Amino acid sequence: MDTIRIYIINPVGEKFTIDADCNSENSIMDVVKEAGFDIGNCGGMALCASCHCIVESEHNLNQKSSEEEDMLDQLHNSTLESRLICQIPVKKEYDGIILKINND
Ligand code: FES
Repeated sequence: MDTIRIYIINPVGEKFTIDADCNSENSIMDVVKEAGFDIGNCGGMALCASCHCIVESEHNLNQKSSEEEDMLDQLHNSTLESRLICQIPVKKEYDGIILKINND
């Protein structure tokens, strides 16, 4: 089984490590939610921003859809490194990704 490691920093700065299977259809949001984080309220439709994270690593991620761009534009705290992690698949190239949850 191919797994990647995902590093999560919660809103108060605590760090967590999650190992995720690359061979599933899961998004990174699915994996992080399964690990017990309170995100993913819209089920991955880019509609709620509960999965808003700042990407703190240098990964070359998939392009944002216009729906994701529109949602991020509406947030008071989005940055150039912001992503909705329900829109990011679990892929081998994303091993070691560092994500800071920013959904307040
Ligand atoms: S889960 Fe709702 S926007 Fe990502």
